[in-house]
Amino acid sequence: MRIELTVNGEHLEADVWAGESLLTTLRDRLQLPGSKNACEQGECGSCSVLLDAALVCSCLVLAAQADGHDVVTVEGLAEDERLHPVQTAFAETGAVQCGFCTPGFVVAAADLLRRVPDPSDDEIREALSGNLCRCTGYQKILDAVHLAAAR
Ligand code: FES
Ligand code: FES
Repeated sequence: MRIELTVNGEHLEADVWAGESLLTTLRDRLQLPGSKNACEQGECGSCSVLLDAALVCSCLVLAAQADGHDVVTVEGLAEDERLHPVQTAFAETGAVQCGFCTPGFVVAAADLLRRVPDPSDDEIREALSGNLCRCTGYQKILDAVHLAAAR
């Protein structure tokens, strides 16, 4: 089936199969590999994107469900080639190690700061509770979100 959707402000079309996930469509058909596929079961958050401004795991959304909708991926967060403040803060605080989880954390953290400009530790932990990281121990990720909020 053919779907039409807006991704990072661009109107795109893709031929997908009925059971295909939005994550597969983004990565394999639309050349947007920023969203990562770590579990494909909704457990890790590495595939997080915004669907009509709501944070979702794109591995759990059918591509067909995104037909006619608006998607923002990690590739769409920078503006005019300037990184999003969350991206800069992650790099500066050492919140990126292997980096596999990072796109999902960045999308989720950017979504949090849009809703809650100066979140507490608890609010950050709650907002990022769907994202798993095997490397950082999470403290540097908290530091990064606070730094981005301060800016
Ligand atoms: S790949 Fe989607 S939640 Fe892990
Ligand atoms: S930086 Fe490696 S999994 Fe998070």
